[in-house]
Amino acid sequence: MNQRETWTGRIGFILACVGAAIGLGNIWMFSWRLGAYGGAAFLVPYFIFVFGLASTGLMEEFAFGRSQQKGAIGAFENVFKDKNPSLGATLGTLPVLGVSGVFIFYIIVVGWILKYFVLALTNSFVGMDIANYFGQFAGNSASILWHALAVILTLAIVKLGVQKGIEKTNKFMMPTLFILLIILMIRSLTLGGAMEGVKFMLVPDWSKLLQPVTWVMALGQAFFTVSLGGAAMLVYGSYLRKDEDIPSSALQTVAFNTSASLLAAFVIIPAVFAFGLDPQAGPPLLFITLPNIFKAMPGGYIFGVLFFLSIVFAAISSAVNLMEVPVEAMMDRLNLSRGKSTLIVALLGFIIGLPLDTNMAWFGKFADFVTIYLVPIGAVLAAFVFFWVYGVSKARQEINRGSSRPLGKWWEPFAKYVFVAVALIVLILGVVYGGI
Ligand code: PHE
Ligand code: NA
Repeated sequence: MNQRETWTGRIGFILACVGAAIGLGNIWMFSWRLGAYGGAAFLVPYFIFVFGLASTGLMEEFAFGRSQQKGAIGAFENVFKDKNPSLGATLGTLPVLGVSGVFIFYIIVVGWILKYFVLALTNSFVGMDIANYFGQFAGNSASILWHALAVILTLAIVKLGVQKGIEKTNKFMMPTLFILLIILMIRSLTLGGAMEGVKFMLVPDWSKLLQPVTWVMALGQAFFTVSLGGAAMLVYGSYLRKDEDIPSSALQTVAFNTSASLLAAFVIIPAVFAFGLDPQAGPPLLFITLPNIFKAMPGGYIFGVLFFLSIVFAAISSAVNLMEVPVEAMMDRLNLSRGKSTLIVALLGFIIGLPLDTNMAWFGKFADFVTIYLVPIGAVLAAFVFFWVYGVSKARQEINRGSSRPLGKWWEPFAKYVFVAVALIVLILGVVYGGI
C-alpha cells in the first residue's frame, strides 16, 4: 500500500483550496447578485452566511477528509464500518457523483474560456459581432475541440499529483490571479463613467434586506462559492497532515475567496457602467458583454488578454479540484494508479459531456440538475454523516487537532443542529427557487 500523498505545507494547502473555491461563481454570479440584491446591503447577509456558516462547512469537509485519510466514498464507509459499511460507501458515492457532475459541465465552460483567451490574444474581438459569435460557438461542434483541450490541460495537472501538480500550479496561479485582478480593477475604475458602477455596487439599498430572496441568494452563493458539496474540499482535506490548523485554514479560504469576488465585481461593474451596458448574470457577461467592452476600451487588447488569462486561472484551478474527486475515488476504490485513474476520468468526463457541447438546452438542464440537487445533497450528507454518525464531539476534536484557537464546546450544538439544518434549507430553497 502506497503512502497517501500530502501537501508540502500550510501555504500549499490553502492556495489549493483558494484555487478550488475561486471560480465562475465568483466571476459571473457574485457581481451580478451584488448589484441585483441591494449593492452593499447584499454584503450583510452574504458575510453572515459565508463567514458564519459556510466556514463551518469547510472545517467539516477538511476534518472529515483528514480524519479518514480518504475521499468521500472511503470516508463515509469508514464512519459506517461497524454499522453498515456498504451503506456508507453507497451514500458517499452521491457527493462524488455530484462533484463529478460539476466537473462535466464546468470543463466545457473552461473550453469556452480558453477559446476566448485565444480570441483576445489574436485581437479577434475587433470587427466581430460577439453576441452572434457566442451563439454560434457555444452549443456548436466548434466548441468540442476546446472542450477537449480543457480536459487535457486539467488532466496534465492532476496526473502530476498533489504536490507536483495541484499544489505547484496553484502556488503560481493564485498569486498571479490576484495581481491580475488588481491591475484590471485599476483600469476599470479609471474609465470615464466608472463611478456610476461603483455607486451601483456600494450605495446600499437597505430595503432589499426586507425581501427574503436577497437572503436566499446570499445563502446559496455562500455555500456554492466555497464549493460545499461533500467531496471537493473533503478530498483536499484528506491530503492534510494532522498538525495543520483547520479552523484558520477555513477562514483564510473564505477570506481569499471573498476578496476575489469583491475584486472581480470592481473589475466588471464599473466597466459595464462606463460603457452604458447592463450587468448580466452568467455566460453572457463573460462571453458577450465583457468582450464588447474590451473592443471599445483604451488598451482593450492588453486588458482583454489579461482578463481572460485571469479567468483561465480561476477556472482551471477549480477544474483541477473537481477532477481530483473522481480520480481519488478510482485510485482508492479500484486500486488504480493515479495515471490510469486520471486518464479514465478525463475520457469519461469528456464523453459524457459531449452531448452538452452541441445542445445548450441540455447543457442548462444538466448544470441545473447537478447544482440544484446533487451538490446540495452532497453537502447535507457529509455534514450529517460527520456530525451525527461519526459524532459531533469527535468531529470537534478532529477540527481542533493542530489548531491554535480551538473551538469550544458551544460549537457542538451549533454544528450538529444549526449547520445541518441550514445545509438542508439550502437544498430545499434551491429546489423551491429553481436554483439559488
Ligand atoms: N466554488 C466554485 C465556483 O465558485 C464552484 C464549485 C462548487 C466547485 C461546488 C466545486 C463544488 O466557481
Ligand atoms: Na467561489
